Amino acid sequence: MGKLHIGMSLAPTWLSSEAWRRPDSGIENYHEPGFAADIARRAEAAKLDFVFLPDTLYLDPQVLETGPGFSSMDPTMTLAAIAHETQRIGLLTTVSTTFLPPYVVARQLQTLNRISRGRVGWNVVTALGGHENFGLDAMPPAEERYAQAAEFVAVVRALWDSYPDAAILNDRDTGRYANASLVQPIDHNGKKFRVQGPLNLPAWAGDRIPLVQAGASEAGQNFAAAIADAVFASTPDRDAAAALRTSLCTRAERQGRPAHNIRLLPGLSLYLADNKSEARDLFQATHVRADRSRAIARIQAMIGLDLTNWPQDCPIAATYLPPLPARCPSRTHAELLQRLIRRETPSLQDLLTRPEVMGSGHWQIVGTAQDAAEEVAQWSQASAIDGFICVPGGSVRSMHLTLDQLIPALVERKLFRSDYSATSFLGHLSD
Ligand SMILES: Cc1cc2nc3c(=O)[nH]c(=O)nc-3n(C[C@H](O)[C@H](O)[C@H](O)COP(=O)(O)O)c2cc1C
Repeated sequence: MGKLHIGMSLAPTWLSSEAWRRPDSGIENYHEPGFAADIARRAEAAKLDFVFLPDTLYLDPQVLETGPGFSSMDPTMTLAAIAHETQRIGLLTTVSTTFLPPYVVARQLQTLNRISRGRVGWNVVTALGGHENFGLDAMPPAEERYAQAAEFVAVVRALWDSYPDAAILNDRDTGRYANASLVQPIDHNGKKFRVQGPLNLPAWAGDRIPLVQAGASEAGQNFAAAIADAVFASTPDRDAAAALRTSLCTRAERQGRPAHNIRLLPGLSLYLADNKSEARDLFQATHVRADRSRAIARIQAMIGLDLTNWPQDCPIAATYLPPLPARCPSRTHAELLQRLIRRETPSLQDLLTRPEVMGSGHWQIVGTAQDAAEEVAQWSQASAIDGFICVPGGSVRSMHLTLDQLIPALVERKLFRSDYSATSFLGHLSD
């Protein structure tokens, strides 16, 4: 069994819900340049594979009443600043394939790759919303977004190859700056994009830029199997992770790729404290104001089930599940919620506290760092995961315990590296 691959979210999940209101939250600094850099330096000291910024291109002002929500600085530009504050750690940015022109994206990512000397990774998302900011009447259906994503990624990769670093000669004697024959147009003429190329920036000479994908529907998995080095997933339980991992590996092999070239990295939500009861208190305190009506509205938007007048203790059986709405924003999250209801027939009271409703359906551990290390070891031994992305919750301290105690506990168990052996992002994923 290889070592785990671990990333750290720089989106401040440890400040969500009530946590930003804690006196030591540092919320005032959220949009300061040093905020993310401090965590990135800590993550690098723990020898993590990468730091990660998710992204959305829209804002619901109502959400701001109670917390920062998804408002954030541009992830690629933020990581350019972090590149100067770190030396080895990978920098995973999120760019959607639904809204921006591929030439611009290819150039921005290659720019960050050069700035960071080969440490960039691209989290390819087809987006959850934001059409209203890009002149579209509605979000294109998922199948259409994935078809566009496949073409988009092909164009970006071709652009990266269109101007290899080896073309540059810098030959002062002959006056030849570059071997222009190595710099070729891509002449892409596809369904969605027409791009001539070449890119106006030479590619970094080292390892290629790894691709990460998020979205686990049938179409999402097939897309990941074709292009992804890693998949960022929501897997609230071990069986869900193991099933997704097997499914992705099988699909990758069917497409002629080695199964181990696609790594399953679920989000791991960690509420850590010095003992279990403090950790439970931290979780409770974080969710004390959880808005019941908003959670019920979220369930309806996700799976079309209206629980407005549902009695608190009455079990919700699978027979009540309506067909999925045609345009559900994420089939992945909708199916996780349906799966929970089918498996557990929960009461409404119970359902409203579950990660599938409260958060993103991520794997969740509430306890000490040792509890977390034990559970991670179990998931790893069960071949359910190749690593995970830390999305700590509850408090700054919970985030610090993740890096200062959980990661060393995994090193002690020989599940994680004690030092870097590679210098590129792909190198970390491969060691
Ligand atoms: C774990 C996970 C993380 C995601 N992160 C983002 C994100 O940061 N930004 C974004 O616009 N979409 C994000 N998405 C949305 C996906 O890119 C995709 O558009 C959506 O899940 C619909 O695809 P699906 O039907 O395969 O789930 C994420 C999805 C999942 C499952």
